[in-house]
Amino acid sequence: MTQLSSTSLASLDEMKCDYLRKHPASQAMYERARKTLAGGTSHNYRASVPIPLYWQGGQGARMRDVDGLEYVDYALNGASAIIGHGDPRVLEAIASYDPRLGGATNNELEVIWAERIKKLYPSADLVRFTGSGSDSTTLAFRLVRGYSGKDRILRFGRAYHGWHDHSAIGYLEGAPIPCGVPASQGDLIVTASLDGDLEAVRQRLAGGDIAGMIVEPSGAGMGMNPLSHDRLLELRALARAENVPFICDENVTGFRWSPGGIQALLNLDPDLTLLGKIATGGFPGSAVAGKAAIMDQLAHGVRSPVSHSGTYNGHPVVATAAIAMIDAISDGEPQRRAEAFATDLKSELNKLMAALSIAGFAYGPSSTYWVYLHPNEADPLAVVPGRPDYDAVSPSILSNAPLEMVEALYCGLCNNGVFNTIFNGGFTSSVHGPSELDQTVSAYAAVLRELRDRGIVATV
Ligand SMILES: Cc1ncc(COP(=O)(O)O)c(C=O)c1O
Repeated sequence: MTQLSSTSLASLDEMKCDYLRKHPASQAMYERARKTLAGGTSHNYRASVPIPLYWQGGQGARMRDVDGLEYVDYALNGASAIIGHGDPRVLEAIASYDPRLGGATNNELEVIWAERIKKLYPSADLVRFTGSGSDSTTLAFRLVRGYSGKDRILRFGRAYHGWHDHSAIGYLEGAPIPCGVPASQGDLIVTASLDGDLEAVRQRLAGGDIAGMIVEPSGAGMGMNPLSHDRLLELRALARAENVPFICDENVTGFRWSPGGIQALLNLDPDLTLLGKIATGGFPGSAVAGKAAIMDQLAHGVRSPVSHSGTYNGHPVVATAAIAMIDAISDGEPQRRAEAFATDLKSELNKLMAALSIAGFAYGPSSTYWVYLHPNEADPLAVVPGRPDYDAVSPSILSNAPLEMVEALYCGLCNNGVFNTIFNGGFTSSVHGPSELDQTVSAYAAVLRELRDRGIVATV
């Protein structure tokens, strides 16, 4: 990763000062929160620099912060709000929820919820609800280990599968075992490169010691490191040829790429599918859905060979939101609208970068958009402004921008009424429309000019 010079860092700090001036209420909330919440937040990635924003809530494609400022939202409640915030169908379902149903007991709503999933995901013979996306990968790893009698998981660098020990290993290719993760676990995770040699993956699978292969089918990092459909299908075929269970982590792509996720578009037929976010109606939870031969390891209660529990798995309040959300998006129309908006946005941003001669481009699959900006202080690359070119900028470079530059872009966009994920982009919904498009492109025009004029991003 390129290190920025002290002059560039000082220049970026000036941009962050403007952000501080604009958000006094968030700043006060941060000071208060830090006294009780570690880092002032409940998630490391929400602790944006110099201070995180705190929120009142959202409606449609917009969010309002505690300073009363409104933003076009591309974070969308962890990518779940594909029909926007506060959709009346979901609100009405939640309002009619009877809390006396309780949780932590079997209930009809979780059965209905699983039936909805099974209908749209024919690869799933059976469903087991879990507590979060990370929880879904934890169970998937245990299931394939139990099924195969092997210990090692094959994963791809930069793909995100949650924060637990076995997902943390290999997230950054070639990096040491992360702090707090036992070094002894390192041998259990085999990391391959998504844009590396497929023959190396084949040979590794043929080694006979891999319990399962997990793939983020959008490409690593929610599509920031693109993965072509052909390559995804080849990975699936390699796993099948070696009889290695194929785990498709559709926590982001599920219900977003299409009602049946990316697997419906490509006929992927995974052995296990992991679902969260939209699948839980934006409420906490997740699901593992898969082939009976693997899922049946959970079929005998406490006598099951694979142990699994979780007090609030399949909670009826989550099931209520999830069923309403799934019913609202099952015809595929919201996905089509969200994707059409994302296509327009990427096209307008690419025109803008071409007009500003900035060495960068907007890209990303389906209803996502990401922005690559080439740092001025990095080794030159043959980037044509506004043209995504994965030969010039290989997928593994795309999420490698200096953190301080990413943070400055994020702050600058917040100053101009656009709230992204902290990864230079985010997700679109069916209710993003022309006014959101105009506001977003104007915000980028202001911030990209500033980054260019301060000598932070390269020009061509
Ligand atoms: C593909 C993928 N898998 C798993 C997870 C982990 O989900 P959670 O944050 O709910 O633990 C995420 C989170 O963004 C994700 O994007």
